Amino acid sequence: MEKFLDLIGKEVSAAFEACGYDASYGKTGISNRPDLCEYQCNGAMAAKKKYQKAPIQIAKEVVEKLAGNPVFSSAEAVNPGFINLRVSGSYLAGYLDRMAADQKLSVEKADRPKTIIIDYGGANVAKPLHVGHLRSAIIGESVKRICRAAGHRVIGDVHLGDWGLQMGLIITEVKHRKPELPYFDESFTGEYPAEAPFTISELEEIYPTASEKSKKDEAYKAEALEATARLQDGARGYRALWQHILNVSVADLKKNYGNLNVEFDLWKKESDAQPYIADMAEYMKREGYAYQDQGALIVDVKEESDTKEVPPCMILKSDGAALYTTTDLATIIDRVKNYDPDEIIYVVDKRQEMHFTQVFRCARKTKLVKDDMELKFLGFGTMNGKDGKPFKTREGGVMRLERLIGEINEEMYKKIMDNHEADPDEARQTAAMVGLSAIKYGDLSNQASKDYVFDVDKFTSFEGNTGPYILYTIVRIKSILTKYRASSGIGEGTIPAALLAPANESEKALMLELAKFNSVMEQAFEELAPHRICSYIYDLSNALNRFYHETKILSHEDETQKAGWIALLDLTRRVLETGIDLLGFSAPERM
Ligand code: ARG
Repeated sequence: MEKFLDLIGKEVSAAFEACGYDASYGKTGISNRPDLCEYQCNGAMAAKKKYQKAPIQIAKEVVEKLAGNPVFSSAEAVNPGFINLRVSGSYLAGYLDRMAADQKLSVEKADRPKTIIIDYGGANVAKPLHVGHLRSAIIGESVKRICRAAGHRVIGDVHLGDWGLQMGLIITEVKHRKPELPYFDESFTGEYPAEAPFTISELEEIYPTASEKSKKDEAYKAEALEATARLQDGARGYRALWQHILNVSVADLKKNYGNLNVEFDLWKKESDAQPYIADMAEYMKREGYAYQDQGALIVDVKEESDTKEVPPCMILKSDGAALYTTTDLATIIDRVKNYDPDEIIYVVDKRQEMHFTQVFRCARKTKLVKDDMELKFLGFGTMNGKDGKPFKTREGGVMRLERLIGEINEEMYKKIMDNHEADPDEARQTAAMVGLSAIKYGDLSNQASKDYVFDVDKFTSFEGNTGPYILYTIVRIKSILTKYRASSGIGEGTIPAALLAPANESEKALMLELAKFNSVMEQAFEELAPHRICSYIYDLSNALNRFYHETKILSHEDETQKAGWIALLDLTRRVLETGIDLLGFSAPERM
């Protein structure tokens, strides 16, 4: 469906043209003085020079042409030449009726859908998920849904970290603890056990222990480095052990991401790039892009216009081991080969920006990607505690994701039980839904690139710019709709009634807000910006609540009027629910 603002602009442009002026002067925007008008066109001022006429004169002519136009309820020329517009209530209602009849709620699909890969999540196997990975998962999931809603083919890839030193560390630690295992016996040719030699909780203890040891003990570190190289090289026992680490870890990660309502299409990992690495290095050397420097293989990626030094991109270390840049480049090869994407979006901590600058430049320079393929880095800021430092537990340790979610849910559970009598089981379920909205909305309502303060009290509040407030608004609408259905005998599903022209100011404000939906969606996609959706659904919720407080809906005696309001409420609910779905959470029936 055409955007509401564009439809209005067209009418104004036609009026300019009919008065003998260029149609382009009819560009119309939303008024920033809602007390004076709803829409405003400043074209008369811009036309002054070309037509050598006083702007107010031009504005008056245009306004006269607009008189009687069914789209507007008023059009005024105001000194020095503004055109102030109000839209007619029945026209607005007609637009929203078409929107309500449209499955996509007025949002148009891209005419040329792109294939977009979103690289997000990025957990490292065998390391517990902590809040650092939370942002990537939350933002990436929302960006994925926004791109999909815009009509593109979107593939979400978790791109697990499973190929670096952390693997060598774990292997080394297991070897120290259980040297008798067959994985470490080089002469072993039989089948390795199907059962992993550790549980997830053991694994989560093994990594930090090994990491600590390697910092103090040079020999231990050397062992871990060697184990990493041998793993990458294909040592049979190490590969078998790595497979166990992966299996145990992935099962746990799936559960954790599932609790966050985050779903990946692909569970690929750094190691999937390994088969491409040797050929890639060979190709880069052969084509003269890469050269040997102190044993390492590198590609220069600095550019003349650089204001900051961009170091060369390292392809292989002197011991032949792959680095983070290596796997990222080879992963691009894998993605191009298997999915032929038009675009890859990386949702990663902004402190990795230099790494991605190097990788993107190297991929272009060495022609791993077509010229028109886009590589985008969506870097996000740090999640801080109230003290302004990276978020920690109360004891000062690294905050595990499970614990954070547990604490928020507990807080929500208490609030729900305090609010009203509730069945404890149902309250637990509701608390999980509301808790998730608190976490996700608290994160997504900030521009992704900015650092933000994770403030539990603020995020879990039912008032203000929070997830629970949005859910509360949706639940309020649902409860009115349920009562209306019960009293009028309408079944489940979309309310059939037509919207009416607004009966009061707050109703019109709500309707004007609804009419913005498709343009907000377009902007959120173009900017890859979930925070645009947050601020829109917040404004919409405020408009709904104002209308609700000023209007007696269910007790209204005129049935047609009542049905019209119910249709308006139902449309608002659908838009809000679509909005939160794009953010990656959903609303309970009651709360
Ligand atoms: N595993 C990485 C980390 O924890 C994030 C991966 C981001 N994606 C990528 N293609 N490099 O820092």
